[in-house]
Amino acid sequence: MTHIYLDYAATTPTDSRVLDAMMPFFETSFGNPSSVHRYGQQAEAAVEQARETVAQALNCRPKEVIFTSCGSESDNLALRGAAQAIKGETGRKKILTSRAEHDAVTQTAKQLAAHYGFTLGWLPVDEFGVVTPDAVKELISDEVAIVSVMYSNNEIGTINPIEEIAQVCHEAGAVLHTDAVQAAGYLPIENDILDADLISLGGHKIYGPKGIGALYVREGTPILPNLTGGGQEFGIRAGTSNVPYIVGFGEALRLTVEERAERNEHVRPLRDNIIETILEEIPDSKLTGHPENRVSNHASFVFKDVDGNLLLQLLDSAGFACSSGSACKTGNPEPSEVIIALGLSPEWALGSLRVTLGRRSRPDYVAAFLDTLPTMVDRARSLMK
Ligand SMILES: Cc1ncc(COP(=O)(O)O)c(C=O)c1O
Repeated sequence: MTHIYLDYAATTPTDSRVLDAMMPFFETSFGNPSSVHRYGQQAEAAVEQARETVAQALNCRPKEVIFTSCGSESDNLALRGAAQAIKGETGRKKILTSRAEHDAVTQTAKQLAAHYGFTLGWLPVDEFGVVTPDAVKELISDEVAIVSVMYSNNEIGTINPIEEIAQVCHEAGAVLHTDAVQAAGYLPIENDILDADLISLGGHKIYGPKGIGALYVREGTPILPNLTGGGQEFGIRAGTSNVPYIVGFGEALRLTVEERAERNEHVRPLRDNIIETILEEIPDSKLTGHPENRVSNHASFVFKDVDGNLLLQLLDSAGFACSSGSACKTGNPEPSEVIIALGLSPEWALGSLRVTLGRRSRPDYVAAFLDTLPTMVDRARSLMK
Protein backbone atom coordinates (compact mmCIF):
# COMPACT_ATOMS: atom_id res chain seq x y z
CA MET A 1 0.00 0.00 0.00
CA THR A 2 1.37 3.40 -0.85
CA HIS A 3 1.25 5.80 2.02
CA ILE A 4 -0.08 9.24 1.15
CA TYR A 5 1.58 12.21 2.84
CA LEU A 6 -0.80 15.02 3.77
CA ASP A 7 1.31 16.72 6.44
CA TYR A 8 3.47 19.26 4.59
CA ALA A 9 3.01 21.83 7.38
CA ALA A 10 4.85 19.44 9.73
CA THR A 11 7.74 19.13 7.33
CA THR A 12 8.57 18.74 3.66
CA PRO A 13 10.95 16.40 1.83
CA THR A 14 14.26 18.06 0.99
CA ASP A 15 14.30 19.06 -2.70
CA SER A 16 16.96 17.10 -4.63
CA ARG A 17 18.20 20.40 -6.14
CA VAL A 18 18.76 21.65 -2.58
CA LEU A 19 20.64 18.48 -1.65
CA ASP A 20 22.82 18.85 -4.77
CA ALA A 21 23.72 22.40 -3.73
CA MET A 22 24.59 21.28 -0.19
CA MET A 23 26.71 18.20 -0.88
CA PRO A 24 30.05 19.82 -1.84
CA PHE A 25 30.12 21.67 1.49
CA PHE A 26 30.31 18.48 3.53
CA GLU A 27 33.37 16.96 1.92
CA THR A 28 35.25 19.06 -0.59
CA SER A 29 34.52 22.68 0.35
CA PHE A 30 34.45 21.86 4.05
CA GLY A 31 36.31 24.91 5.40
CA ASN A 32 35.36 26.99 8.42
CA PRO A 33 34.16 30.38 7.10
CA SER A 34 36.08 32.12 9.90
CA SER A 35 39.43 30.73 8.68
CA VAL A 36 41.76 33.02 6.76
CA HIS A 37 43.02 30.45 4.23
CA ARG A 38 41.35 29.52 0.97
CA TYR A 39 39.25 26.71 2.45
CA GLY A 40 37.77 29.27 4.81
CA GLN A 41 37.30 31.85 2.09
CA GLN A 42 35.48 29.38 -0.13
CA ALA A 43 33.08 28.50 2.70
CA GLU A 44 32.61 32.15 3.62
CA ALA A 45 31.76 33.02 0.02
CA ALA A 46 29.08 30.30 0.02
CA VAL A 47 27.56 31.60 3.28
CA GLU A 48 27.54 35.18 1.99
CA GLN A 49 25.99 34.07 -1.30
CA ALA A 50 23.20 32.34 0.66
CA ARG A 51 22.76 35.46 2.81
CA GLU A 52 22.43 37.53 -0.37
CA THR A 53 19.76 35.12 -1.66
CA VAL A 54 17.77 35.30 1.58
CA ALA A 55 18.12 39.10 1.58
CA GLN A 56 16.72 39.19 -1.95
CA ALA A 57 13.73 37.09 -0.89
CA LEU A 58 13.08 39.46 2.04
CA ASN A 59 13.99 42.56 0.04
CA CYS A 60 16.42 43.65 2.74
CA ARG A 61 20.15 44.14 3.19
CA PRO A 62 22.31 41.02 3.62
CA LYS A 63 23.55 42.25 7.00
CA GLU A 64 19.96 42.13 8.25
CA VAL A 65 19.89 38.32 7.80
CA ILE A 66 21.04 36.14 10.72
CA PHE A 67 21.32 32.38 10.18
CA THR A 68 20.07 30.23 13.08
CA SER A 69 19.63 26.51 13.73
CA CYS A 70 15.84 26.41 13.14
CA GLY A 71 12.58 28.34 13.19
CA SER A 72 12.32 27.84 16.95
CA GLU A 73 15.73 29.42 17.48
CA SER A 74 14.76 32.35 15.26
CA ASP A 75 11.66 32.92 17.42
CA ASN A 76 13.75 32.66 20.60
CA LEU A 77 16.39 35.04 19.30
CA ALA A 78 13.75 37.55 18.24
CA LEU A 79 11.85 37.51 21.53
CA ARG A 80 14.61 37.03 24.06
CA GLY A 81 17.19 39.06 22.17
CA ALA A 82 15.03 42.06 21.34
CA ALA A 83 12.92 42.10 24.53
CA GLN A 84 16.00 42.11 26.77
CA ALA A 85 17.88 44.68 24.69
CA ILE A 86 14.87 47.01 24.55
CA LYS A 87 14.24 46.65 28.29
CA GLY A 88 17.87 47.56 28.93
CA GLU A 89 17.75 50.59 26.62
CA THR A 90 14.29 51.99 27.33
CA GLY A 91 12.85 50.28 30.42
CA ARG A 92 9.88 48.98 28.39
CA LYS A 93 9.12 45.53 29.74
CA LYS A 94 5.82 44.35 28.33
CA ILE A 95 5.45 41.63 25.70
CA LEU A 96 2.26 41.21 23.68
CA THR A 97 1.46 37.99 21.88
CA SER A 98 -1.52 35.68 21.27
CA ARG A 99 -2.31 32.16 22.43
CA ALA A 100 -2.53 31.11 18.78
CA GLU A 101 1.25 31.47 18.30
CA HIS A 102 3.63 28.54 17.95
CA ASP A 103 5.05 27.26 21.26
CA ALA A 104 8.46 28.64 20.30
CA VAL A 105 6.89 32.07 20.87
CA THR A 106 4.38 31.43 23.67
CA GLN A 107 6.73 29.35 25.85
CA THR A 108 9.51 31.90 25.38
CA ALA A 109 7.19 34.79 26.26
CA LYS A 110 5.95 32.89 29.34
CA GLN A 111 9.50 32.23 30.51
CA LEU A 112 10.51 35.86 30.00
CA ALA A 113 7.53 36.86 32.16
CA ALA A 114 8.13 34.22 34.84
CA HIS A 115 11.91 34.65 35.23
CA TYR A 116 13.23 37.76 33.50
CA GLY A 117 11.08 40.60 34.81
CA PHE A 118 8.74 41.05 31.84
CA THR A 119 4.96 41.39 31.91
CA LEU A 120 2.86 39.59 29.36
CA GLY A 121 -0.33 40.68 27.63
CA TRP A 122 -2.37 38.16 25.62
CA LEU A 123 -3.84 39.49 22.39
CA PRO A 124 -7.26 37.95 21.75
CA VAL A 125 -7.99 36.24 18.43
CA ASP A 126 -11.34 36.33 16.65
CA GLU A 127 -13.38 33.21 15.78
CA PHE A 128 -11.11 32.57 12.78
CA GLY A 129 -7.90 32.91 14.79
CA VAL A 130 -7.06 36.37 13.43
CA VAL A 131 -5.23 38.92 15.59
CA THR A 132 -6.87 42.14 14.41
CA PRO A 133 -5.05 45.50 14.36
CA ASP A 134 -7.82 46.76 16.68
CA ALA A 135 -6.97 44.05 19.23
CA VAL A 136 -3.35 45.25 19.17
CA LYS A 137 -4.51 48.90 19.48
CA GLU A 138 -6.49 47.99 22.63
CA LEU A 139 -3.45 46.60 24.45
CA ILE A 140 -0.52 48.59 23.06
CA SER A 141 1.08 51.21 25.31
CA ASP A 142 4.43 52.90 25.85
CA GLU A 143 5.26 50.01 28.22
CA VAL A 144 5.34 47.51 25.32
CA ALA A 145 8.80 46.45 24.15
CA ILE A 146 7.81 43.85 21.57
CA VAL A 147 4.70 42.42 19.91
CA SER A 148 4.83 38.96 18.35
CA VAL A 149 2.11 37.93 15.88
CA MET A 150 2.61 35.12 13.39
CA TYR A 151 2.15 35.68 9.65
CA SER A 152 0.24 32.44 9.04
CA ASN A 153 -0.86 29.93 11.62
CA ASN A 154 0.56 26.40 11.52
CA GLU A 155 -2.52 24.74 13.02
CA ILE A 156 -5.40 26.56 11.36
CA GLY A 157 -3.82 28.26 8.32
CA THR A 158 -5.15 31.75 9.11
CA ILE A 159 -3.18 34.71 7.72
CA ASN A 160 -2.75 37.74 9.98
CA PRO A 161 -2.74 41.37 8.70
CA ILE A 162 0.93 41.96 9.58
CA GLU A 163 1.40 45.27 7.77
CA GLU A 164 -1.54 46.89 9.61
CA ILE A 165 -0.37 45.45 12.93
CA ALA A 166 3.13 46.81 12.23
CA GLN A 167 1.68 50.29 11.81
CA VAL A 168 -0.05 50.10 15.21
CA CYS A 169 3.14 48.84 16.89
CA HIS A 170 5.37 51.46 15.29
CA GLU A 171 3.04 54.33 16.20
CA ALA A 172 3.48 53.24 19.85
CA GLY A 173 7.25 52.83 19.52
CA ALA A 174 7.11 49.02 19.88
CA VAL A 175 8.98 46.45 17.81
CA LEU A 176 7.02 43.83 15.81
CA HIS A 177 8.19 40.25 15.38
CA THR A 178 6.40 37.93 12.97
CA ASP A 179 6.90 34.19 12.67
CA ALA A 180 6.80 33.50 8.93
CA VAL A 181 8.01 29.90 9.21
CA GLN A 182 4.79 28.50 7.71
CA ALA A 183 3.99 31.47 5.49
CA ALA A 184 7.23 31.68 3.51
CA GLY A 185 6.30 28.77 1.25
CA TYR A 186 3.14 30.39 -0.05
CA LEU A 187 3.00 34.11 0.77
CA PRO A 188 5.19 37.08 -0.12
CA ILE A 189 7.71 37.77 2.64
CA GLU A 190 9.33 40.94 1.31
CA ASN A 191 9.66 43.29 4.20
CA ASP A 192 8.25 46.28 2.33
CA ILE A 193 5.00 44.23 2.37
CA LEU A 194 5.21 43.06 5.99
CA ASP A 195 6.97 46.03 7.60
CA ALA A 196 7.94 43.86 10.62
CA ASP A 197 11.20 44.49 12.51
CA LEU A 198 11.97 40.81 13.03
CA ILE A 199 10.90 37.92 10.76
CA SER A 200 11.50 34.22 11.54
CA LEU A 201 12.06 31.69 8.76
CA GLY A 202 12.78 27.96 8.83
CA GLY A 203 14.26 25.60 6.24
CA HIS A 204 12.28 22.39 6.48
CA LYS A 205 8.86 23.83 5.69
CA ILE A 206 10.09 25.01 2.28
CA TYR A 207 11.78 21.84 0.96
CA GLY A 208 15.06 22.70 2.68
CA PRO A 209 16.78 20.66 5.38
CA LYS A 210 15.75 20.49 9.03
CA GLY A 211 17.98 22.25 11.54
CA ILE A 212 18.43 25.57 9.74
CA GLY A 213 16.57 28.87 9.92
CA ALA A 214 17.07 32.60 9.64
CA LEU A 215 15.97 35.74 11.41
CA TYR A 216 15.55 39.06 9.65
CA VAL A 217 16.59 41.86 12.02
CA ARG A 218 15.78 45.31 10.70
CA GLU A 219 18.85 47.54 10.96
CA GLY A 220 18.75 49.50 14.21
CA THR A 221 16.50 47.02 16.09
CA PRO A 222 18.04 46.47 19.53
CA ILE A 223 18.99 42.81 19.94
CA LEU A 224 21.23 40.80 22.27
CA PRO A 225 22.63 37.42 21.23
CA ASN A 226 21.15 34.29 22.86
CA LEU A 227 24.28 32.34 21.99
CA THR A 228 27.44 34.16 22.99
CA GLY A 229 30.89 33.17 21.84
CA GLY A 230 32.62 33.96 18.54
CA GLY A 231 31.59 36.96 16.49
CA GLN A 232 29.76 34.99 13.81
CA GLU A 233 26.55 36.40 12.30
CA PHE A 234 27.55 40.00 13.07
CA GLY A 235 27.96 39.13 16.76
CA ILE A 236 24.27 38.23 17.06
CA ARG A 237 24.57 34.42 16.94
CA ALA A 238 27.81 32.70 17.89
CA GLY A 239 28.84 29.25 16.63
CA THR A 240 30.70 28.00 13.57
CA SER A 241 28.40 28.49 10.59
CA ASN A 242 26.61 25.36 9.43
CA VAL A 243 27.77 25.92 5.87
CA PRO A 244 26.01 23.08 3.98
CA TYR A 245 22.70 23.80 5.70
CA ILE A 246 23.00 27.55 5.15
CA VAL A 247 23.65 26.86 1.46
CA GLY A 248 20.67 24.47 1.41
CA PHE A 249 18.43 27.02 3.08
CA GLY A 250 19.45 29.71 0.58
CA GLU A 251 18.74 27.40 -2.35
CA ALA A 252 15.41 26.24 -0.89
CA LEU A 253 14.27 29.83 -0.42
CA ARG A 254 15.48 30.85 -3.88
CA LEU A 255 13.48 28.01 -5.46
CA THR A 256 10.47 28.83 -3.29
CA VAL A 257 10.40 32.44 -4.46
CA GLU A 258 10.89 31.37 -8.07
CA GLU A 259 8.18 28.69 -7.94
CA ARG A 260 5.82 30.13 -5.32
CA ALA A 261 3.05 31.11 -7.75
CA GLU A 262 3.15 27.69 -9.41
CA ARG A 263 3.13 25.89 -6.03
CA ASN A 264 0.11 27.93 -4.92
CA GLU A 265 -1.72 27.11 -8.14
CA HIS A 266 -0.97 23.43 -7.69
CA VAL A 267 -2.27 23.07 -4.14
CA ARG A 268 -5.15 25.55 -4.01
CA PRO A 269 -7.73 23.56 -6.05
CA LEU A 270 -6.83 20.38 -4.15
CA ARG A 271 -7.27 22.23 -0.85
CA ASP A 272 -10.61 23.74 -1.97
CA ASN A 273 -11.86 20.30 -2.94
CA ILE A 274 -10.90 18.91 0.49
CA ILE A 275 -12.68 21.71 2.37
CA GLU A 276 -15.82 21.61 0.23
CA THR A 277 -16.16 17.81 0.28
CA ILE A 278 -15.50 17.35 3.99
CA LEU A 279 -17.92 20.06 5.09
CA GLU A 280 -20.57 18.65 2.76
CA GLU A 281 -20.13 14.95 3.48
CA ILE A 282 -19.17 14.66 7.13
CA PRO A 283 -21.89 15.56 9.63
CA ASP A 284 -20.86 17.70 12.61
CA SER A 285 -17.71 18.99 10.93
CA LYS A 286 -16.41 22.56 10.99
CA LEU A 287 -13.57 24.33 9.25
CA THR A 288 -11.08 25.88 11.67
CA GLY A 289 -9.29 29.08 10.73
CA HIS A 290 -10.32 31.64 8.17
CA PRO A 291 -12.51 30.46 5.26
CA GLU A 292 -10.73 32.67 2.68
CA ASN A 293 -7.77 34.31 4.32
CA ARG A 294 -5.78 31.11 4.76
CA VAL A 295 -2.64 29.60 3.27
CA SER A 296 -3.38 27.81 0.01
CA ASN A 297 -2.05 24.38 1.05
CA HIS A 298 -3.89 24.26 4.38
CA ALA A 299 -7.21 22.67 5.36
CA SER A 300 -8.11 22.17 9.02
CA PHE A 301 -11.22 20.94 10.74
CA VAL A 302 -12.82 19.88 13.97
CA PHE A 303 -15.24 16.95 14.18
CA LYS A 304 -17.69 16.78 17.08
CA ASP A 305 -17.23 13.82 19.47
CA VAL A 306 -14.07 12.55 17.83
CA ASP A 307 -10.72 11.85 19.48
CA GLY A 308 -8.31 13.54 17.08
CA ASN A 309 -5.37 11.30 17.97
CA LEU A 310 -7.45 8.17 17.41
CA LEU A 311 -8.56 9.53 14.05
CA LEU A 312 -4.92 10.10 13.10
CA GLN A 313 -4.07 6.49 13.99
CA LEU A 314 -7.01 5.16 11.98
CA LEU A 315 -5.99 7.29 9.02
CA ASP A 316 -2.39 6.15 9.31
CA SER A 317 -3.49 2.50 9.25
CA ALA A 318 -5.56 3.28 6.17
CA GLY A 319 -2.51 4.83 4.45
CA PHE A 320 -2.83 8.56 5.09
CA ALA A 321 -0.40 10.72 7.09
CA CYS A 322 -2.18 13.76 8.57
CA SER A 323 -1.86 15.78 11.74
CA SER A 324 -4.13 17.03 14.48
CA GLY A 325 -2.47 20.43 14.49
CA SER A 326 1.07 21.32 15.33
CA ALA A 327 3.42 18.35 14.84
CA CYS A 328 4.95 19.10 18.24
CA LYS A 329 1.63 18.48 19.96
CA THR A 330 0.58 15.28 18.25
CA GLY A 331 0.16 12.60 20.91
CA ASN A 332 -0.93 15.11 23.55
CA PRO A 333 -4.52 14.30 24.67
CA GLU A 334 -5.25 17.93 25.60
CA PRO A 335 -6.89 20.14 22.97
CA SER A 336 -4.38 22.66 21.69
CA GLU A 337 -4.33 26.22 23.02
CA VAL A 338 -4.91 27.44 19.47
CA ILE A 339 -8.15 25.49 19.11
CA ILE A 340 -9.27 26.59 22.57
CA ALA A 341 -8.47 30.22 21.67
CA LEU A 342 -11.06 29.91 18.87
CA GLY A 343 -13.71 29.39 21.57
CA LEU A 344 -14.66 25.80 20.63
CA SER A 345 -16.30 23.66 23.32
CA PRO A 346 -14.47 20.48 24.53
CA GLU A 347 -16.63 18.07 22.52
CA TRP A 348 -15.44 19.82 19.36
CA ALA A 349 -11.97 20.90 20.41
CA LEU A 350 -10.47 17.40 20.80
CA GLY A 351 -11.44 16.30 17.29
CA SER A 352 -9.07 18.41 15.22
CA LEU A 353 -7.56 17.34 11.91
CA ARG A 354 -5.02 19.20 9.79
CA VAL A 355 -4.53 18.27 6.13
CA THR A 356 -1.70 20.09 4.40
CA LEU A 357 -0.63 19.69 0.79
CA GLY A 358 2.59 20.09 -1.12
CA ARG A 359 4.52 19.51 -4.31
CA ARG A 360 3.92 15.76 -4.48
CA SER A 361 0.18 15.98 -3.73
CA ARG A 362 -2.05 14.77 -6.57
CA PRO A 363 -5.79 14.85 -7.33
CA ASP A 364 -6.02 11.04 -7.14
CA TYR A 365 -4.35 11.05 -3.68
CA VAL A 366 -6.86 13.63 -2.49
CA ALA A 367 -9.75 11.64 -3.98
CA ALA A 368 -8.57 8.49 -2.18
CA PHE A 369 -8.33 10.45 1.08
CA LEU A 370 -11.80 11.93 0.66
CA ASP A 371 -13.21 8.45 -0.05
CA THR A 372 -11.73 7.08 3.18
CA LEU A 373 -12.13 9.92 5.69
CA PRO A 374 -15.92 9.69 6.33
CA THR A 375 -15.61 6.01 7.31
CA MET A 376 -12.68 6.79 9.61
CA VAL A 377 -14.58 9.61 11.32
CA ASP A 378 -17.57 7.24 11.82
CA ARG A 379 -15.25 4.61 13.25
CA ALA A 380 -13.57 7.10 15.59
CA ARG A 381 -17.01 8.27 16.77
CA SER A 382 -18.25 4.76 17.44
CA LEU A 383 -15.08 3.96 19.41
CA MET A 384 -15.67 7.04 21.60
CA LYS A 385 -19.07 5.71 22.73
C1 LIG B 1 4.75 28.66 12.84
C2 LIG B 1 5.96 27.87 13.24
N1 LIG B 1 6.94 28.48 13.92
C3 LIG B 1 8.04 27.84 14.30
C4 LIG B 1 8.21 26.50 14.03
C5 LIG B 1 9.45 25.81 14.50
O1 LIG B 1 10.31 25.60 13.44
P1 LIG B 1 11.49 24.50 13.59
O2 LIG B 1 10.83 23.18 13.48
O3 LIG B 1 12.40 24.81 12.42
O4 LIG B 1 12.14 24.75 14.89
C6 LIG B 1 7.22 25.81 13.33
C7 LIG B 1 7.35 24.37 13.06
O5 LIG B 1 6.43 23.59 13.22
C8 LIG B 1 6.07 26.51 12.92
O6 LIG B 1 5.08 25.90 12.27
